[in-house]
Amino acid sequence: MNTPPVQCEISLTVNGEARTVRAYPMERLLDTLRHRLGLTGAKEGCGEGECGSCSVLMDGVLVNSCLVPVLQAQGTQIVTIEGMAKGSQLHALQQAFLECGGAQCGICTPGILIAAFHLLSERPRPSDEEIKESLAGNLCRCTGYAQICEAVAQAANRGDER
Ligand code: FES
Ligand code: FES
Repeated sequence: MNTPPVQCEISLTVNGEARTVRAYPMERLLDTLRHRLGLTGAKEGCGEGECGSCSVLMDGVLVNSCLVPVLQAQGTQIVTIEGMAKGSQLHALQQAFLECGGAQCGICTPGILIAAFHLLSERPRPSDEEIKESLAGNLCRCTGYAQICEAVAQAANRGDER
């Protein structure tokens, strides 16, 4: 007979804030963020690691949160889309997406913004090729990608203002 899963306490830092939640160890980080912590920015697209809409940073590494058991996130630093703006001041990437039309339906946008944020943290002045490569794991069904890449390049060019 199978024993039912038991919840445990998971402590992690989300967008700079220490959080402790009770969760099933194998539940998806995506679900913990959305349903237990109320952070609904990360989206579920495919649910199987293909679309990137659930992307977050875990200890500085870009991960698909639909593939991460929350137990694995114990003690880590998580950054979600909610952590990008500073109060009412949008991050340069968010501002550039607004100006360039980088978001349409918006399902892919949080994941793409986090992937681009990760890129700029490592390559403040990326080439066009590097921008495309860094977003290769993020699918968008609406924009055709041109405006997205343009927005990332625009934000990078404004790097000194960030
Ligand atoms: S929902 Fe996680 S990769 Fe698609
Ligand atoms: S804006 Fe709709 S999927 Fe990208």
